[in-house]
Amino acid sequence: MTSTLITGISELWTLDPALDDPARPGEVTGAQVLRDAALVIEDGRIAWTGSAAQAPAADDAEDLGGRAVLPGWVDSHSHLVFDGDRAAEFEARMAGESYSAGGIGVTTDATRSATDERLDALVRGRIAEAVAGGTTCLETKTGYGLTVQDELRAARLLSALIAEGELDEATFLGAHLVPREYSGRAEEYVDLVIGEMLAAVAPHVRWIDVFCEAGAFDPEQSERVLRAGAAAGLGLRVHGNQLGRSGGVALAAELGAASVDHVNHLGAADVEALAVTAARPTAPGDGPGRLAVDAGPTVATVLPACDLSTRAPLAPARELLDAGASVALASNCNPGTSYTSSMSFCVTIAVLQMHLSLAEALRAATRGGALALRRADVGHLGIGARADLHVLDAPAAIHLAYRPGMPLTHQVWRAGRRRA
Ligand code: NIG
Repeated sequence: MTSTLITGISELWTLDPALDDPARPGEVTGAQVLRDAALVIEDGRIAWTGSAAQAPAADDAEDLGGRAVLPGWVDSHSHLVFDGDRAAEFEARMAGESYSAGGIGVTTDATRSATDERLDALVRGRIAEAVAGGTTCLETKTGYGLTVQDELRAARLLSALIAEGELDEATFLGAHLVPREYSGRAEEYVDLVIGEMLAAVAPHVRWIDVFCEAGAFDPEQSERVLRAGAAAGLGLRVHGNQLGRSGGVALAAELGAASVDHVNHLGAADVEALAVTAARPTAPGDGPGRLAVDAGPTVATVLPACDLSTRAPLAPARELLDAGASVALASNCNPGTSYTSSMSFCVTIAVLQMHLSLAEALRAATRGGALALRRADVGHLGIGARADLHVLDAPAAIHLAYRPGMPLTHQVWRAGRRRA
């Protein structure tokens, strides 16, 4: 077992859960941010953090020269399995068209036509882009196949990437849109999703998701999908209240989903329902670093890059935090509504436009995402955590908002290995 000592850290955001203040749940405490710090990695995990003056000896050493270190971003919502882009649709939107779910069908056609080799290469390329931007824990979804064969192909690709250590979490999103060949037969398509499709895909994924929205699946159909997924042992995620008050948030909270994502259009009852779930305790899961998928809060996952790209009202992250809800920030990288995997960009918007403090935004993009994925091993740099480091080319993390759009990612480490 070799150990690596990392010094020259001007600001170290450990966000260590062991140092949470029970009187201020959800807040970053002073003890979770160290100055003039050092850390030790052993066997891919954090073995020690503290003041540089007290750093122990190690086999190797790396001096970061006075840079800030954060836990790698945890991106809990992306759709990376696709071919083609929708730049023309985007351009029309910038000229005044509004977003509708129908564009998913365009990407579905392109994705079905792609060879396995091409799809594999496209997804790997997108993961590499995300890593280069500081993302070290990544979820992605199926959802541009929408046949048993095409959804299974996507799920197998994702589970192979997880086995290789390239990806962390995979989600089945057969209920993304009713595909053209089932037009006017939505109930029949839901039967397919919760029957043959779910049976084929479930062994390859940990999560099931549904787009609960006018133009996609109504709350009753969404509930059928989610209950079937839960019966198959999958954790629940929901695309909810993106385009209107779809009922997705209430459904997610009621069924104990781990996350409800988008949350642009919320009534007071939605905010309250999410805040109430924040008190639900998590429970140990089925493996090291994993929490149970069916216990804990329903995290409100906000997707600011998507909000900008669709010209939607920004999700009310400030209001959600003030109400006591658990909040995550994610990229929603996809070709229709958010063609970026830059979590740093999302953090910048969260601070500049959503009125989160830097600490709130960093926590939402790390520990928030980890909670939304029911992971205890990532999103922080407490002892025993996976050694996922995002080294900024800046002395302090506030530069992410202070210098918007600048390339501030200096190094990325995943499980103790340099990835960028
Ligand atoms: O999360 N809202 C549903 N799904 C994606 C968009 C998919 C698309 O338009 O291709 C999202 O924004």
